[in-house]
Amino acid sequence: MTSFAPKGPHVWARIFGSRSFPKPFSSQARCRYIAVCKMSVSAEEVAKHNKDSDCWVIVGDQVLDVTAFLSEHPGGKKSIMMFAGKDATEEFDMLHDRKVIKKYGLDEGTVVLKGTIKK
Ligand code: HEM
Repeated sequence: MTSFAPKGPHVWARIFGSRSFPKPFSSQARCRYIAVCKMSVSAEEVAKHNKDSDCWVIVGDQVLDVTAFLSEHPGGKKSIMMFAGKDATEEFDMLHDRKVIKKYGLDEGTVVLKGTIKK
């Protein structure tokens, strides 16, 4: 099998800006993660995901699938649903540190990075 995955923690650190890329990930899973990260998503696409059964929001330049996080959100489901399919950056930044996205969402698997918003 041909592997196009770059090897070594220093490479992952460069890509993810941290040395803490989860170890148990297979190189195949890493590739999939990178492919998803690089995807550019249009605002029109994000707008389609505006239901509590399929909810995406934009924070900064990131498009996030927060569907599985809605029921866990300390600020309640409704506060996120007001921005379902939309850009929530301004309101998000008024209430949180951006670090909470990784800590309580991405690392737990309840928030999924779908890609970067197309400008
Ligand atoms: C994208 C994933 C999100 C994560 C991981 C997240 C996480 C959290 C966390 C951990 C808290 C507790 C306070 C804190 O530690 O800062 C919180 C509170 C809150 N969040 Fe979020 N949040 C997210 C998205 C949003 C969005 C899009 C909105 C809508 C503007 C929102 C609105 C609120 C509100 C209103 C509170 C309650 C603040 C308070 O009672 O003082 N959150 N959120």
